[in-house]
Amino acid sequence: MLREKKKALWKIIIVVLIFVNCAMVLLKDDNAFVLYERLLSTSSSRGDMVAWARAAVNSCNIEPLPNITVFFKYLNQTEYPCKNLTKFGGAIFPKFVDGDKWACLDSPVAPPPSNCLVYSFGINFEWSFDDAMASYGCEVYSFDPTMDMKEHKRSPNITFLKLGIGNSARNFSRGKVDTLGGIIKKLGHVGRRIDYLKLDIEGMEVETLEEVFKNQPELLTNVTHLGVEIHPGKYNGANTTQPTNIFNRLWKTFQYLGCLEFQLLYWAYNPYPSYSMWKGIKQSCCYEIVWVRPPPR
Ligand SMILES: *[C@@H]1O[C@H](CO)[C@@H](O)[C@H](O)[C@H]1NC(C)=O
Ligand SMILES: *[C@@H]1O[C@H](CO)[C@@H](O)[C@H](O)[C@H]1NC(C)=O
Ligand SMILES: *[C@@H]1O[C@H](CO)[C@@H](O)[C@H](O)[C@H]1NC(C)=O
Ligand SMILES: *[C@@H]1O[C@H](CO)[C@@H](O)[C@H](O)[C@H]1NC(C)=O
Ligand SMILES: *[C@@H]1O[C@H](CO)[C@@H](O)[C@H](O)[C@H]1NC(C)=O
Ligand SMILES: *[C@@H]1O[C@H](CO)[C@@H](O)[C@H](O)[C@H]1NC(C)=O
Ligand SMILES: *[C@@H]1O[C@H](CO)[C@@H](O)[C@H](O)[C@H]1NC(C)=O
Repeated sequence: MLREKKKALWKIIIVVLIFVNCAMVLLKDDNAFVLYERLLSTSSSRGDMVAWARAAVNSCNIEPLPNITVFFKYLNQTEYPCKNLTKFGGAIFPKFVDGDKWACLDSPVAPPPSNCLVYSFGINFEWSFDDAMASYGCEVYSFDPTMDMKEHKRSPNITFLKLGIGNSARNFSRGKVDTLGGIIKKLGHVGRRIDYLKLDIEGMEVETLEEVFKNQPELLTNVTHLGVEIHPGKYNGANTTQPTNIFNRLWKTFQYLGCLEFQLLYWAYNPYPSYSMWKGIKQSCCYEIVWVRPPPR
């Protein structure tokens, strides 16, 4: 009798053990399933951004620039109202100020201090913006293929690379350039938010952005500040509807940025305050323009 009871007890214990084991396997599977689902959803949300960005570019209704007035009217407006527009850097030269860049420190576009990434293209020994972003707490990559200087760490948060940005990967007489996508990959930053993408690249800004729109517009969906110095030169009465006209190409760029949900934050004559008049329109060789793109939550 006692032996029978013991047998029954063992049976119960074994059944309970099997049950617990099964439950554990199931739970583990459940975790694996959740993990799998999470992996799927991140990759599909990335896939979604790729599809979204490409559709945004493809369906962007690009109009030629009817005249120069329209160009300056666009610049002379605020699309993104910012309460805390803050200047980073800026050096005073005898006759003008240069190198200052503006950022919006309002949520959700503010670079999160201690967790922000800055790409600064075009230094020419003027480090004030890079230094300011580094002391704000960002990880800064400073690029300039034309500076006669070895790659080095300027300070704990600043890495200097002898590399430039362009519309293809190539070597040229003064250094090498790569595309935005190539550089992000090379630095291991795929899928990271770029809090400030600064382009001060002496006229190559248009072809560089055209390459990104054409090949990898999704990269821009993780850029929150895009600060570009444009170098169209002074307008001289040329036909702005011509596809090769530099103001028209810039206008096209502005429209693509709009389709990718960038909003104009700031603009200024550069170098400040050097400008001249053309038929009542104040102009310079170059302009400083900053757009912001509120990141997806
Ligand atoms: C420029 O083009 C706009 C839009 O087509 C038009 O409304 C405006 O009158 C034009 N301005 C000049 C000065 O031609
Ligand atoms: C810019 O806009 C202001 C009004 O917001 C206007 O007074 C000024 O004339 C405009 N300047 C240009 C260059 O369009
Ligand atoms: C703007 O942001 C900076 C940095 O967070 C802060 O120090 C400053 O007080 C802010 N200014 C305003 C007007 O909110
Ligand atoms: C570098 O960034 C960190 C935050 O990421 C910040 O705490 C530190 O002060 C910065 N260092 C320098 C030298 O600016
Ligand atoms: C550029 O030159 C380097 C050698 O200096 C070579 O390794 C690299 O493949 C070249 N890159 C391109 C895109 O031609
Ligand atoms: C944008 O950044 C997020 C978060 O860092 C990342 O999950 C996503 O893959 C990135 N998207 C692209 C297109 O790189
Ligand atoms: C400007 O160029 C366009 C073609 O892009 C042409 O159709 C138009 O006639 C030109 N306008 C003038 C005033 O030459």
